[in-house]
Amino acid sequence: MTQKILVLPGDGIGPEITAQASRILAACQARGLDVEVEEGLLGGAAYDAHGEPLPAETLEKAKAARAILLGAVGGPKWDKIEDLSKRPEKGLLGVRKQLGLFGNLRPAITYPQLASASSLKPELVAGLDIMIVRELTGGIYFGQPRGIEERDGERVGFNTYVYSESEIERIGRVAFEMAQKRGKKLCSVDKANVLEVTILWREVMERLAPEYPDVELSHLYVDNAAMQLVRAPKQFDVVVTGNMFGDILSDAAAMLTGSIGMLPSASLNESGQGMYEPCHGSAPDIAGQGIANPLATILSVAMMLRYSLDEPALAQRIEDAVGKVLDDGLRTADIASEGMRTVSTAEMGDAVLAAFERM
Ligand code: NAI
Ligand code: MG
Repeated sequence: MTQKILVLPGDGIGPEITAQASRILAACQARGLDVEVEEGLLGGAAYDAHGEPLPAETLEKAKAARAILLGAVGGPKWDKIEDLSKRPEKGLLGVRKQLGLFGNLRPAITYPQLASASSLKPELVAGLDIMIVRELTGGIYFGQPRGIEERDGERVGFNTYVYSESEIERIGRVAFEMAQKRGKKLCSVDKANVLEVTILWREVMERLAPEYPDVELSHLYVDNAAMQLVRAPKQFDVVVTGNMFGDILSDAAAMLTGSIGMLPSASLNESGQGMYEPCHGSAPDIAGQGIANPLATILSVAMMLRYSLDEPALAQRIEDAVGKVLDDGLRTADIASEGMRTVSTAEMGDAVLAAFERM
């Protein structure tokens, strides 16, 4: 059956980088990938056209799609919108919420060719390959009650940190299954010495463990996990954690790799429907100049093929093509280094496409 793919270019560099990723997607179609690709508006681009960051038409298309490829949303042009519900990022949150995309996969991979770009010593990060599995639709970012109110003559801000057993179990299963497909090591990150929610989290992970006897489960408190991540990151394979800890740890892990323009991500629901996007934002400072790195978005297409379309061979082919282009010394400005050839967004897209065709 032909599956639908929705491309949402978004704002800033979004249209430039998704254009290159769409070319790779088209090359996959030419090799037999049975998908129908359409485009839609999200974020500031949608606000400008329809006064809404997530128009009903886009939401309908998103629901009908097996997978969504997003560029990025937001930028200074829309920061002045006073009604917070109309801000570009609300469009992105709306898609996540409406599709129930609770499982966020954030790989942190250091290509050996780029190890010197990291802030850590190259030997600590060369060959780094971590997968952070972050719960995305629950936890303290969504818990009720929340607010700022007057109590005993002063203002008090409060949020609620809450996870149900079923929410923990479903993200736990995503992580255990991921570990089975990778290095068979899963580290669950919590703060079970202080927070009841994460005592339950740890219990649920322990309860699931016997169902995945080939996976070695360990636990770390989040503060120690942060230390270990910068001390010896290669000790990790798959890391599973809640929304807030995952937000922070995944950004820290991304920075270890030294190149935000290289990192893809996925957000999945129970049926395998997913949204795929680069980890970076809309980079308004370089938008329109044709110099943005399209590789994170191209690698997001590879994740889409692997996790929503069950086409691991095509995914691998894209990843190998990216490796080949780096081997050949091509670099966009963000990863430029001496002795390498600095190329534009489109030239990088050309090169990946050519390598993909030659594989
Ligand atoms: P950013 O990731 O857009 O940019 C941070 C820095 O990295 C900038 O110097 C930028 O030029 C550079 N950069 C990012 N992606 C790059 C690429 N592909 N190639 C080369 N250089 C790249 O983060 P920032 O500046 O905090 O946010 C800018 C806008 O993006 C804001 O409106 C923010 O809300 C939005 N944003 C959107 C996200 C999304 O749509 N998922 C995620 C993060 C931020
Ligand atoms: Mg973040």
